[in-house]
Amino acid sequence: MKFLQYGIDAPYAVTHLILAGLALMGVGWAMQFVYPVAMTKIGLMITFFIVGAGWSLLYTAALMVFSSCFSKRHLAKKIIAKLQLQGNESILDIGCGSGLFMIEAAKKLSTGKAIGLDCWVKKDQLKNSPYHTLRNIDRENVYDKTALVTGDMRYLPFKDHYFDVIISNLALHNLSSSQARTKVIEEAVRIVKPGGRILFIDFQYTKEYSTELSKILMKNVHRSKLNFIVCPPVRLVSAEVQSPKI
Ligand SMILES: C[S@@+](CC[C@H](N)C(=O)[O-])C[C@H]1O[C@@H](n2cnc3c(N)ncnc32)[C@H](O)[C@@H]1O
Repeated sequence: MKFLQYGIDAPYAVTHLILAGLALMGVGWAMQFVYPVAMTKIGLMITFFIVGAGWSLLYTAALMVFSSCFSKRHLAKKIIAKLQLQGNESILDIGCGSGLFMIEAAKKLSTGKAIGLDCWVKKDQLKNSPYHTLRNIDRENVYDKTALVTGDMRYLPFKDHYFDVIISNLALHNLSSSQARTKVIEEAVRIVKPGGRILFIDFQYTKEYSTELSKILMKNVHRSKLNFIVCPPVRLVSAEVQSPKI
């Protein structure tokens, strides 16, 4: 199914939301049979609250699925278009998963290359595997402009100042400690070229990313407003590396 091509983010979280939503709806429905709950004003209010909470969990799960299947693609197209790539860049997608951002970037390249790095955590994305990403690469006909690397984003296996653009969507927040997230940011700064760009898109910790990037003396560090096109809403943190003075 084409709409599932890029997987579903956080499938366990989506499943938990659906189960909890259905459980609350079930409790709300069963309460009408409990005498005297159904007969009192307070009982009806509690039932209404429980059913409402159930609906909101199911609605959030539906939005998350819709976001993974449709709106995330729109976001990726928009962000990659904004980069105004020349075609000869080397690009790294950290935590590429099924390859959406890497493939979108590769479509804009001629002589350049887009590399995706991931360690393929199943709980972070449905069908997460290099095999699945390679199928997407093949489907989108960008085989000669992409490469996949299996690795941990805290230890990026690339030489210093190698990439023109580093991008990462919804990946860094998966590291639970701020030291680990800072390590990824330091690694990204190490491997980006002078004059290159770094973009982190995430729904958590974006203040931390922009603070860390500013500390490392990146230029034009910018943290966007919340973007509600996807669920959960995300911010884009972008920064440029200072070019050496001639
Ligand atoms: C929510 S998915 C997002 C995938 C992709 N960026 C996208 O937008 O579709 C998060 C990704 O981060 C990857 N990931 C989590 N921890 C990682 C780590 N320590 N090193 C590399 N990748 C990691 C997961 O395997 C998963 O593919």
